[in-house]
Amino acid sequence: MPIAAQERLIRPARNVYGSLRLPGDKSISHRYAMLAAFAEGTSRFTNFSTGADCASTLACMEALGAKVNKTNDNSVEISGVAGRVIPAKHPLDCGNSGSTMRMISGLLAPQQGSFTLVGDASLSRRPMERIRKPLETMGARLTLTEGHAPLTIHGNPLHPIDYTTPVPSAQVKTCVLLAGLQTAGTTTVREAVRTRDHSELALRAFGATLTRTLDSVSIPGPQCLYAISAAVPGDISSAAFFLCAAALFPGSGLVFDSLGLNPTRATLLDVLTALGAHIAVLNLEEKNAELVGTVQVSAPPQGLGSAEVSGALAAQLIDELPVLAAIAPYTSGGIRIRGARELRVKESDRIALIVKNLRTMGAEVAEFEDGLDVPGGQTLHGATIDSGGDHRIAMAFSVAALRAEGETLIQGAESAAISFPEFFNLLDLVAER
Ligand code: S3P
Repeated sequence: MPIAAQERLIRPARNVYGSLRLPGDKSISHRYAMLAAFAEGTSRFTNFSTGADCASTLACMEALGAKVNKTNDNSVEISGVAGRVIPAKHPLDCGNSGSTMRMISGLLAPQQGSFTLVGDASLSRRPMERIRKPLETMGARLTLTEGHAPLTIHGNPLHPIDYTTPVPSAQVKTCVLLAGLQTAGTTTVREAVRTRDHSELALRAFGATLTRTLDSVSIPGPQCLYAISAAVPGDISSAAFFLCAAALFPGSGLVFDSLGLNPTRATLLDVLTALGAHIAVLNLEEKNAELVGTVQVSAPPQGLGSAEVSGALAAQLIDELPVLAAIAPYTSGGIRIRGARELRVKESDRIALIVKNLRTMGAEVAEFEDGLDVPGGQTLHGATIDSGGDHRIAMAFSVAALRAEGETLIQGAESAAISFPEFFNLLDLVAER
């Protein structure tokens, strides 16, 4: 059977073994790119994300006046606009990246000029009211298209607010903080669940002052940012696919070097440990306030047990839930996921696609509005997977395919490049057949 360029055939593996150093974290790379482009001076980053999403952020910041110089060893040099962007001549293309669109909106709302932000078909379906609400409360003027992109920001000076996010979202939190950075007075964001805090850590690294409590962050404004040099930690959400793959094969062993271990991102390690996987964290270091370390993972001889993910855990694991659900049939007791309604408004309706693809592989699964139940002790069969053009669905089912009976064809496999272009090559490297 001929295989199209957008498809990947995944053969079952006998084991997963090796050591990996992963490209830079996507969330951190977005923030470093935006802040460096806004700051005064020239910032330098090594191990910058290789994903298309962060390339979208770099291109938008370049269109807004920053100078970006990429080298082929994944280093990036960015000279910033020192607090004043130039209105772009063309709409800013955020591609597939919700982080780019939502966070840049906060940066641009207090600037002078009009800015139009567009995205691909998937991004144009995603909810943008969640940023309009707080920004308009600050006095910003935004025009959306039926709650979605394309969106236009008519920049003007803002006033500070005290805002509680209705759904946990680091993108919305960051959007408000970036507007607050440029606004006279103190802007506060409160959240019921502490979402990833890379913006708070990065803002401080670039010289900003902010104060935090357990459930809030306050930023006085206006403040200036100053260039930094940093190595971006390896992306733990990319590692998630390999951590889960290794957890499936007794006798497996993977080592990840220089992996980002920010506690707001590392919840998967706790869940895998609860499932019975053996995980060791070594050489923990702090770099620009981000924790980085070496992680070793191996599978338990008796196989994985069971897990329940709900509430705060679901919000903190949101990007890792697709792969966790995809390996759930191979556990003994199954995995139950609730409180994850946000999965329905990611790059695809991830709950619907996980359910559809698990069923295509022959699994039993129950779908709920905010999650799913996947019983354990099931055998999956190789099948044709519809990734829906969603990078995390394509990669999650490539991992499930490693223990399936027969070969699996991943359609829309090229979408992996949104966050992790090296995924399939590295999978070939560590999957023993
Ligand atoms: C991200 C936050 C999360 C996550 C996304 C990246 C970020 O989205 O799903 O992949 O870098 O802030 P929400 O903030 O919408 O939950």
